[in-house]
Amino acid sequence: MPRVSIAGTEKIFEVKDGEVIYDALSDRGEDLPHGCLAGSCGACRIDVIEGMDNLAPPTFIENNTLEAIREEFTQKHGKDFLTGKNLRLACRARVKGDVVIKPI
Ligand code: FES
Repeated sequence: MPRVSIAGTEKIFEVKDGEVIYDALSDRGEDLPHGCLAGSCGACRIDVIEGMDNLAPPTFIENNTLEAIREEFTQKHGKDFLTGKNLRLACRARVKGDVVIKPI
């Protein structure tokens, strides 16, 4: 089973292949930051520290929201803020293998 780990903690969750990160962790008692749970608000944004290739590709709506988040972060924090970060939305990203994530 794939594992989702939260960086900077000892929390590791075994999830089912294809489960959405937010749903999987919520079902296991871990409440990640969230808002709409529909891929449009960006409140559930995470940095994928390890295992970016172990997530299913983002959908159209996730890509649109991620682009808006990138623009917002760049305006607020400068163009280097996102360097080295792998943004995804926890309410949309489906797990295919082990990942390490960090809410941002
Ligand atoms: S909770 Fe709104 S985009 Fe995920």
